[in-house]
Amino acid sequence: MEKAMATFSASTVTTILLLAASTLYIQGVEGSIGVNYGTVANNLPPPAQVAHFLLESTIVNRVRLFDASTEMLRAFAHTGIAVTVTVTNDQIPHLTNIGFAQEWLKSNVQPHVRTTNIVRILVGNEVISTANKLLIASLVPAMQTLHAALVGASLDRRIKISTPHSLGILSSSSPPSGGKFRQGYDTHVLKPLLSFLRATNSPFMINPYPFFGSSPETLDYALFRTSSGVFDENTNLSYTNMLDAQLDAVFSAMKLLGFSDIEIAISETGWPSLGDSSQVGVDAESAAQYNRNLMQHVTSGAGTPLMPNRTFETYIFALFNEDLKPGPTCERNFGLFLPDMTPVYDIGILRSTVAAANKFHHATYISAKSSIPTNPSLVPSDCTGADLEALQRNIDHLCGLEMQYCTPIQEAGECFLPMVRVHAAFSMNACYQGTGKNDFDCDFETGEISNVDPSMSLSFCTHDNTPTQAHTPLLFLIETLLQEFAISSPFQAASIEGIGACSGLFAMKKRIGSED
Ligand SMILES: *[C@@H]1O[C@H](CO)[C@@H](O)[C@H](O)[C@H]1NC(C)=O
Ligand SMILES: *[C@@H]1O[C@H](CO)[C@@H](O)[C@H](O)[C@H]1NC(C)=O
Repeated sequence: MEKAMATFSASTVTTILLLAASTLYIQGVEGSIGVNYGTVANNLPPPAQVAHFLLESTIVNRVRLFDASTEMLRAFAHTGIAVTVTVTNDQIPHLTNIGFAQEWLKSNVQPHVRTTNIVRILVGNEVISTANKLLIASLVPAMQTLHAALVGASLDRRIKISTPHSLGILSSSSPPSGGKFRQGYDTHVLKPLLSFLRATNSPFMINPYPFFGSSPETLDYALFRTSSGVFDENTNLSYTNMLDAQLDAVFSAMKLLGFSDIEIAISETGWPSLGDSSQVGVDAESAAQYNRNLMQHVTSGAGTPLMPNRTFETYIFALFNEDLKPGPTCERNFGLFLPDMTPVYDIGILRSTVAAANKFHHATYISAKSSIPTNPSLVPSDCTGADLEALQRNIDHLCGLEMQYCTPIQEAGECFLPMVRVHAAFSMNACYQGTGKNDFDCDFETGEISNVDPSMSLSFCTHDNTPTQAHTPLLFLIETLLQEFAISSPFQAASIEGIGACSGLFAMKKRIGSED
């Protein structure tokens, strides 16, 4: 290392620091903000332009689509944005047939999984509220069948299945502790549904709209403003906003059926910026206030009175105003953006021009940054925790998914070293680096997101699985870059440390290649 340091060039140092800095900077801006990308309009820009806009100009990193159209899925290719697709309600009865489910997957999802970060399939939307007996009876069987098709395609760990509900599934929602599902649906549909979600580790998804539940008297409560709030006498808990009360009513209903452990995600919520003149609290300022407070609240980790210290995956409705939506004026004015992509109001999801321009070369971060780069990686769980068979299954799965996760660890590959943990560390991390680094990507039960380079974690593990001391991540970065810049012969991995460096080198090459 001493000798290597001597030949180390200044420009390489700069590159290292810039890489470290840019990674950090981008992570700093990104929370987890989802939007519903509805398209009931005749004036919206082409999907590719929209996807590019979301990626480059906003901090939105999740979208929900209302179908699974090829044009849409192509638009989000190589963006890393986590995409949720939808099977439309009319297809639900067919989906109970495994042949149909496999075919649906083959034509709508499989062609895109290498390039588009599809993380979830929603089976229908607000199916119970349709009151259509065939749809309702087919819902859970359709989800189970589609899941079986996902398992068959080895996509079940990456793509989860759920279905969104309106709050109409509750027969009682006040006080929040008294929340109950409608009788009949509770045991016949929701119980099997919740069992399915538990078995597949997927969230229960709901569309709560304080807007539709508010009156002039409760407007402040609905908008997260200071209000007298609501006191629940059963629990002695105080509610300061209506969204919390709605979420807790759903939680109470789930708990009554024995499913308080299932995550809740908000598939839709929003506030219109324009309504008919008789409507109170329908203006851009109120909409901005709702959505801004909403984002702050669901990502803060405050949780709700009955679900403290939690965050909620949330999708704002909607990305655009949609001019062809039927109904009162407000229905066409839920959008954050106008069709020309100018904001209807500001809720802080636009990247500032400066941030966008300097995304990858933000020099001021060089000095602001300490010498330990934080570049999250996906690594196998701790030394003893992950079993080797599961790691081998990950490798097999990834090799089937994408050549770049696999070729370097094949026999002639530059990262070949036939040890399951080493190869798993490489391909799991390559997947994570290659798909945009969301928690949902490359979701392996035997992996965890870490700020330690995967190569470091494997050299932490000696033959008897005890952690050892290793280099600091910065030294590691320098070593790998030195290999790249200063050594002309092909890199040969002759040791665990070498193969570790190889993982990192591969990731660095990818990043240099894609960002410059
Ligand atoms: C709520 O507070 C009242 C009055 O202090 C008390 O009698 C009651 O037991 C409390 N209930 C719960 C569920 O804590
Ligand atoms: C929630 O977080 C607060 C503050 O960190 C802590 O005091 C409290 O015990 C936590 N509650 C639960 C249920 O974890």
